[in-house]
Amino acid sequence: MAEDYSATQLLKWYVESGISEALEEKPINHFLSDAAVENSEAESIRIVSTDTESHAIKPVQLISQSETTKSAYAAARAADTLEALRNAMSEFEGCPLKQTAKNLVFGDGLAGSRLMLIGEAPGAQEDREGRPFVGQAGQLLERMLKAISIERSDTYITNILPWRPPGNRAPTDSEIGTCLPFIRRQIELVAPEVLILIGGVSAKTLLGTNQGIMRARGKWLEYKPEGGQNAIPARAILHPAYLLRSPAQKRETWMDLLEIQQKMSEIS
Ligand code: URA
Ligand code: URA
Repeated sequence: MAEDYSATQLLKWYVESGISEALEEKPINHFLSDAAVENSEAESIRIVSTDTESHAIKPVQLISQSETTKSAYAAARAADTLEALRNAMSEFEGCPLKQTAKNLVFGDGLAGSRLMLIGEAPGAQEDREGRPFVGQAGQLLERMLKAISIERSDTYITNILPWRPPGNRAPTDSEIGTCLPFIRRQIELVAPEVLILIGGVSAKTLLGTNQGIMRARGKWLEYKPEGGQNAIPARAILHPAYLLRSPAQKRETWMDLLEIQQKMSEIS
């Protein structure tokens, strides 16, 4: 008997093999007609084929990395409130991740929060909801905070990157460099007393160190804002997404959390 590869069987197989997201890495423009899609595919094949000739036609980045960083910097500096910063970021066209993300994931919380936590980049759930740390890692993070008597609603939570890298791939240095002026400005506007840098990317980016997270954790470090503001005590912790995979590391993180709790009580 011939096998029946019906659509429902295929779907069932997807679900059984754990594929639960009906999202592509690139957005599909459903407003384009099939003919237009075929045309654009034919077009790209034609362009690729000229690649083998002497002069290749390639999509060019219209502005250089340094120009992009400069424009991010100017936009970030011009923002005097978190709301203005959010608007500046949603209008910013210099980071290609914006094209593949569904939503801008700006920070969650109020300016003046005493504790600010900074992760790496939004995942699938964060991208859908436009809020940081709402997936599994976020739920673990909330439980970790509760364990030292801190409510999420009393903190400010955000990420180095405000747009999800497709398929949760690691952010590139260029994406991080482009978005750095925004996160630095966000820290100034929140003006926290203590910073928690969640995971290796956040720690490396904001401490300007090449130390891996395993060496950066376990001690108090300093984040230096621009323009002569006081340094902010900062603590790097293991990422909750990593702790979900390596629960044995939770013990070290518990030590870090206790020291954060201690520091918060000294400052208040
Ligand atoms: N991991 C992060 O680093 N940030 C999020 O917002 C969610 C998962
Ligand atoms: N690698 C990271 O980037 N973060 C962790 O917390 C652990 C490993």
